[in-house]
Amino acid sequence: MAVSETTEGVLGAPALRREGRAKVTGTARYATEHTPPACAYGWPVAATVAHGRVTGVEDGEALAIPGALAVLTHENAPRLVEPDDPTLFLLQNDRVPHRGWYVALAVAETLEAAREMAQTVRVSYDEEPHDVLVRADHPDLYHPEWANGGYPGDQHSGDFESAYAAAPHQLDATYDITPLHNHPMEPHASTALWEAGHLIAYDSSQGASTVCQVLARMFDLEEKQVTVVAEHVGGGFGSKGTPRPPVVLAAMGARHTGRPVKLALPRREMPAVVGHRAPTIQRLRLGARDDGTLTALQHDVATHTSTLKEFVEQAAVPSRVMYGADGIRTGHRVVRLDVPTPSWMRAPGEAPGMYALECAMDELAHSLGLDPVELRLRNIPETEPESGKPFSSHHLADCLREGARRFGWEHRDPRPASRREGDLLLGTGVAASTYPVIVAPSTASVQSMGDGTYHVRINATDIGTGARTVLAQVAAQELGVALDAVRIDVGSSDLPQAPLAGGSSGTASWGWAVHKACRELRESDGSIVTVDTTSDVEAQEDYARHAFGALFAEVSADMVTGEVRVRRMLGVFAAGRILNARTARSQFIGGMTMGLGMALTEHSSLDARLGGFVQKDLAGYHVPANADVPDLDAHWIEEHDPHLNPVGGKGIGEIGIVGTPAALANALHHATGQRLRDLPLTPDRVG
Ligand code: MOS
Repeated sequence: MAVSETTEGVLGAPALRREGRAKVTGTARYATEHTPPACAYGWPVAATVAHGRVTGVEDGEALAIPGALAVLTHENAPRLVEPDDPTLFLLQNDRVPHRGWYVALAVAETLEAAREMAQTVRVSYDEEPHDVLVRADHPDLYHPEWANGGYPGDQHSGDFESAYAAAPHQLDATYDITPLHNHPMEPHASTALWEAGHLIAYDSSQGASTVCQVLARMFDLEEKQVTVVAEHVGGGFGSKGTPRPPVVLAAMGARHTGRPVKLALPRREMPAVVGHRAPTIQRLRLGARDDGTLTALQHDVATHTSTLKEFVEQAAVPSRVMYGADGIRTGHRVVRLDVPTPSWMRAPGEAPGMYALECAMDELAHSLGLDPVELRLRNIPETEPESGKPFSSHHLADCLREGARRFGWEHRDPRPASRREGDLLLGTGVAASTYPVIVAPSTASVQSMGDGTYHVRINATDIGTGARTVLAQVAAQELGVALDAVRIDVGSSDLPQAPLAGGSSGTASWGWAVHKACRELRESDGSIVTVDTTSDVEAQEDYARHAFGALFAEVSADMVTGEVRVRRMLGVFAAGRILNARTARSQFIGGMTMGLGMALTEHSSLDARLGGFVQKDLAGYHVPANADVPDLDAHWIEEHDPHLNPVGGKGIGEIGIVGTPAALANALHHATGQRLRDLPLTPDRVG
């Protein structure tokens, strides 16, 4: 790259991704593109029943296939120390908690032989009854103490029932969202080998430090006996935020056979074993005065988890943040079903929760005859509702106003079904967005190489976001040098320990450590500094920290075919300091694109009889293709928040998806006058 950038304005500049050339020329190596000598291949065997026990595994025929090395089952697989995450305790007992759970692993000299073996292994089961369907009146729903993210399951302030009963305007609406799948472009994959008692795993992960810790525990090793490398990762959307079966199976297969083993999940098996966004049934009740200000707000979420693990999609949590009311009641109910274990999917909680809340706000605005932007402006709270904490900064109003201006909102005729082009009805919609500011302690080191260049080391993960580029910008800015004077190594657990790329927290968490290391190096006489930000993070003052945004959308609905198409979308965000204009824009429009899929095409379902997901691959689970995505626009407002980390960013990875589905559903209502509350908004339901 011939471009040399000056120090001036390094932070915030649209620097090019450092690994971009390696990626587009195919030299960047992903987890299964490492092929150690004598590498063997693994292919897992998935349970074909939804609940029961394995009574036998017949592997004679499989082992007779040329190239066969081994079939691992719960009877012969290496014994593991039980991890905190039960979804990783594989091949240790005969139980089948859900369809798709792994019951065996085939290992062979070639990928083809391993796959043939896996198809040839005969597993017999003792089948038990199963239940995979959540309903709002499921008798086994219970109130969990905690929801994902460490939030209380239920929370209330004031007297919701009295406030709601007394409200001159009431809205009571229920919104259903199906299960959703992460489906990153690179499937979950791993290559593992043992070298003199040291376990090395190349893994497709959002956080190699966690994978290292978990593997050390499960295989009864010291952490220094485990190296996990995740140098390039083809997306994760939360599903790679925790270790997943491939790395455990590859390590087990390698230990059992004495050969390196690589294993990539077949895409059709991903929905069952890498987490999913749990389905939600959300009931919103809003009470409002004549001027639109809220007096009562209830957000009740019913969802499912597995019998293995309690994971509660925290969809009611954004209703604790967005708008004030005299009586607020937010809560979650969950039922343990014989389903795959749900987990994080981009903006867990906020994405589905803000869909329901922001559609309800649109319904309220419509019934009051109030502009939906104005309704939101009138309900922005002074302090965080319920907690009463001051906001570290709060610029939702600016996002709404700037978005309305850029979008041309003032020319909108609020009457539904008032714009027609032949068979098409056109409409526009708006929704607010929010995401919490999360930051975790990290370590990092920086070394002066004595020739004017510097070497930063940190186990950050670049899942396609541009993390290594942005962290180099942070370092260059603080060291007062040109960007190309900074070399940075990320993506290995042998580097200074760092938290995962998740919760939109990576840049803030890692950036804080890189910033601190560079500052200390500047102020010291030495040539190398290693820092830990634990005490800095713990010393943070008690503010309510959230990013906000406003999403605007225009759709067309074909009243003959029912097809909904997006004409344009605009997101305006207030997310603290934007550190790289290029990668930030990618994050915002990437999130908005995912929100477009959530609104219009992404749909999964559990088969009541067979117990598994029906939409397993990208032929059945429809993500937006290029032709579905118009020229999206993302902007941000300058936000200077002194109560964040020293780098000043709030996190941008997830806020783009939040709000987008509601903006589209609200636009569809404006287009047609038809209020479709359940997602996705497929043609069979429109018109
Ligand atoms: Mo994100 S769902 O926190 O990786």
